[in-house]
Formats: sequence, structure tokens, C-alpha cells
Amino acid sequence: MHPQEISILSPCSSSSHEAEVDPRKDPRYQGLFCPDTIIEPFKVKVVEPLPLLSREERARGLKMADFNLFSVPAEEVTIDLMTDSGTSAMSQAQWAAIMQGDESYAGARSFFRFKEAVQDLTGMKYVIPTHQGRAAEKILFTVVGGKGKAVPANTHFDTTRANVEHSGCQALDFVIPEGLDPEAEHPFKGNVDLEKLEAWLNENASRVPLMVLTVTNNSGGGQPVSLKNMKALRELLQGFNIPLFLDCARFAENAWFIKTREPGQNHRSVKEISQEMFRLADGAMMSAKKDAFGNIGGFLALNEESIAAECRNLLILTEGFPTYGGLAGRDLDALAVGLEEVVDERYLCYRIASTRYVWKRLDDLGVPLLRPAGGHAVYIDARRFLPHVPPSLCPGQTVSVALFLEAGVRSVEIGTVMFGRTLEDGRQDPAPMDLVRLAIPRRVYTQSHMDYVIEAVRFVFEKRSRLGGFRISKEPEALRHFTCSFEPADWDPLAI
Ligand code: F0G
Repeated sequence: MHPQEISILSPCSSSSHEAEVDPRKDPRYQGLFCPDTIIEPFKVKVVEPLPLLSREERARGLKMADFNLFSVPAEEVTIDLMTDSGTSAMSQAQWAAIMQGDESYAGARSFFRFKEAVQDLTGMKYVIPTHQGRAAEKILFTVVGGKGKAVPANTHFDTTRANVEHSGCQALDFVIPEGLDPEAEHPFKGNVDLEKLEAWLNENASRVPLMVLTVTNNSGGGQPVSLKNMKALRELLQGFNIPLFLDCARFAENAWFIKTREPGQNHRSVKEISQEMFRLADGAMMSAKKDAFGNIGGFLALNEESIAAECRNLLILTEGFPTYGGLAGRDLDALAVGLEEVVDERYLCYRIASTRYVWKRLDDLGVPLLRPAGGHAVYIDARRFLPHVPPSLCPGQTVSVALFLEAGVRSVEIGTVMFGRTLEDGRQDPAPMDLVRLAIPRRVYTQSHMDYVIEAVRFVFEKRSRLGGFRISKEPEALRHFTCSFEPADWDPLAI
């Protein structure tokens, strides 16, 4: 190993989950510079100013937005951790590739470069570009879904679930029990509960068109799936003749966890591991707004010709011609480069370490978190953060609002607001968990930005006993979290 690689890799191998040894302890590297500081493996070329508002200005903004952070204009947000989707900073190579974009309607050179990059990773025959992940889901489940059918997953992401259900099909989750317990420690909390799945398949296999495996498991806290679990799943599904599709928005982060946590995988490259993950599957849907560093984009890749043909016909109706599928040629070029960059282990080492850095500092402060750190985000457990605020008063919303009001940090509530519902008598039926996600955009913020976020959480945590809950005062029929209005439940959040 090159000394530089040791210095970059060594701190990443020191978590309790890392199966392999810390390379710094290897006698061959004695005397070499092995710093604890993991530096961002890039430097700044273009800067975008950060809005720095006063608390009063943010309080005004919050009131105007009826306390819904989706309604707050981005120019009022200092650090935006609402999502890691579409928010990456593109590299100089990606921006250069944009200039090579071929905007021909049919057969553009950009498409062939994109297709080659996808095929190099996935090994899949048919590559169908879409404007983002949910478009790939919509097309796939319109073709394979339908009434009477059922699609199992470790955990369906919300848009995947919505698209499966929209087709009339049932969407079911089979993640291991640890994956549902925020406090459980397990290196692969995204794994499938194979026994439970097998028992269910014994009764239901005939109505299953395919199974979805989300890597990493976003709705379960950005937790990875092990290669061992994938192989066993593959074998189980083959016995029932059921294809496996990856929802691979964060495949490279998953592969990095396999490399660093799964016994016997440390010597392999992330690219090799990723290729093996895809080889175990029959198809993949990707939101390229995550691990392809795209500001927009997605794809569907698969091997089965008849399904690919049907998907392509639908694509022409809803997205565009099969060689651009709702994207500009320049987007396809940027994504082709992004798919190569994301398997760079110096990047992934920094990426996962930077998420863990925030997680560890908050954990040391006693802030209740979903354990262990995920790949793309840190999740605060709002029920334990605010034990005096009942789930029906949306404690996650309180934490989110307070982080924004005090520091301009925007997070997203993943709990009762997003997944609960209002009963006929007006009471709230709460979600199973009330979490607040701090999702970290790729290559965008530096360590000092993250130190600021940590201070903000500490500040809010210290005044937690003075915070109250929120009632939903107005809500739409569906997907209420995007547009609903809130009112504080008998307290003044702006005054404390
Ligand atoms: N699958 C997963 C695992 C996702 O995380 C997302 C999006 C999608 C599919 C849908 O992709 O947004 O490109 O249509 N997740 C974003 C998030 C929105 O904030 O976690 P899309």
C-alpha cells in the first residue's frame, strides 16, 4: 500500500465495526505519516456564498412558511442538510464532460458514453436513462406490477413504495429486526430477514414479479446490506424463480461498508465489490442524484429483453427517446464521469468518515441517535431527544424547526409528519419512529461547516426541556409533509 493510502485509510478502519486491522499497526508502515485527520480529497475552485441571516430574519421566514421547512426559500438556509439528493458538487472532470454533451435527439454520443459507464459497473444488457430515480420506478412497476401482485424489499424507499402501490401491487418490507430498532448495533442493518422472507414466499411466490433490495437502506437509516446476505438472498430467490432488482442510489457507499466491515473483503476494490453486487442482481434502478454526483438523472438497467422492450415503449411516452430518456446529453456525460469517480476509495473513505465524524461527536455529547452512523446521513432520535413531547405532537418537527431557527441548519423530519396520519376525530396516528435526518450532500461542505452543525445540535439539545410540540393545522390529501402548515402546541418557539 502506498503511504498516502495508509494515511487516508487508517482512521477509517478504527470503528468497532471494521473487521480488518488498522493498517497503522502494521509494522511495515512504522515511521510513516498516518494522521488522524481525514482531509477532504478536493480543493475549492468555485465558491457559492452561504446565506448568514439573523435569528429574527429566520423567525420571520419560519412564520411565513407556517413552520414547514419545505416552504422556506433556500436563500434563508445556511447549511442545507435536507437531502443528499441532487445536491452534490460536480468535479472539474464532470464540468468538462458537460462541454462534450451531444444533444442529438437520437443516438447521441453522450448516451453511448453513459451506457458504457453503467454497463461497466452493472454488467447489464439494457440501459434505459430516466430523468430521476422515481421515473425508473414508475416505468418498471407499470410494466411488472399490478393488482394481486406483491413486491418484497428490505425496506422500500417512499417513492418506490408509492410507485409499487400506485400500480395496484402490495409493497412489503423484510428487513432484519435490528434494522427497525434505532438503538441496535449491527454492521449490516439493511440486511433481509431471510427466514421470514422464505416463510412468506412459500405462500406468496406466485404473485411476486421481483424483489427490491435498497442499497444502502435509506428508510432504515442509510444502513448497508452485506454481500453474504445478498448472496443468500439471490439463492433463495432463484429457488422461486424471482428476479432481484437493486435500488442502487447509494451502491458505492454500500460497497465501501462491505469492504471495511465484512470479513474477507478488505483486499478487494470497491469497484470489484460493486460489480459483484450487480452481478447478483437481474436489474437495477438508480437515482443518479446520489452516488453518481448528478444534479439530475437516473436509470433502469436489466437483462430481460421483453421487459426492457416494454419499459422502453413506456419511456418514449413519458420520458423521451431511449437514448436520452428525459435528460440532456450533457447530463448523461456528467453522470458517466460521476459513476467512475464515486468508486474512488480516497473519496469514499473521506465520505463515510465525514458522516461518522458528525455522528461520533453528537454521540459523545449524549444526543440520542440512530446507531450506527449511516452512509449519507445522521439521524437524530427525536422521541428520546424530547421525551416530554408526545409523538402525536411531532417531536421531530420541533427539533427540525429549532435547528433552523437557532442556526439556519435545515434538516428533514422523518416521522409522524411524513408517515403518520390524521384520524377522523382529529387525533394523530403517529409513525413507528420520529427521526430527524441530517443528510450530507457530497463534496459540498467542509469539516468546519460540520463543526458548526454539531454546535447547533448541542445548543438545541441544551435547551430541549423548554421546547414544545407542533400540531398540523392544515394538510393536503397525500404526501402531507411537503405542504402542510403547523402551529406550535401552546408555546412560542420564537420566544424561547
Ligand atoms: N430510491 C432511494 C433509495 C432514494 O433514496 C430515492 C430518493 C429514490 C429512490 C428516488 O429517487 O429522488 O431521484 O426520484 N431519495 C431522496 C432522499 C429524495 O432525500 O432521500 P429520485
